[in-house]
Amino acid sequence: MHQTSQQLITTLGLEPHPEGGYFKETYRSKGTISQEELGDRYRGNRNYSTGIYFLLTSDQFSALHRIKQDEVWHFYDGSPLKLHMITPEGKHSEHIIGRDLTKGETPQFMVPGGCWFGAEVINPDSYSFVGCTVAPGFDFTDFELGNKHQLITLFPHSAELIERLTHQ
Ligand code: GUN
Repeated sequence: MHQTSQQLITTLGLEPHPEGGYFKETYRSKGTISQEELGDRYRGNRNYSTGIYFLLTSDQFSALHRIKQDEVWHFYDGSPLKLHMITPEGKHSEHIIGRDLTKGETPQFMVPGGCWFGAEVINPDSYSFVGCTVAPGFDFTDFELGNKHQLITLFPHSAELIERLTHQ
């Protein structure tokens, strides 16, 4: 593994994430929103907002997954990251999260709730260090990892991408 990424894992105490990569929750608001106020889409109460550090290395990928809430990605360091998104209607798009504005990279990107998304590090032998913030706050109950076969059946036009960015 890239030396700096190992340092980030050790220094920041990052843990493996089920989607791939490493993370640590850095913020969870004290305040909560009740199930009643959230409505039927959520089961249970949620914090107002949460944030994580997220580190992806070039020998891994962030597997296609979806959550219920919008998620804002913030670029911190390393290689730019290619984020793939598939809307519920099946429209695929790519977004480069990075700092080189002259190349069309964006330091922040928002993934709308309900979209499938995954990511890969652009530079070889490198890593991308980013942050991800959601509101309402993150709960693994709202997190769904994509199943290769089910996603290809739903979105046959993106079969090649789904093949590459799913584990199961
Ligand atoms: N907390 C644990 N996993 C995640 C994640 O994938 N995104 C966000 N925003 N918070 C998390």
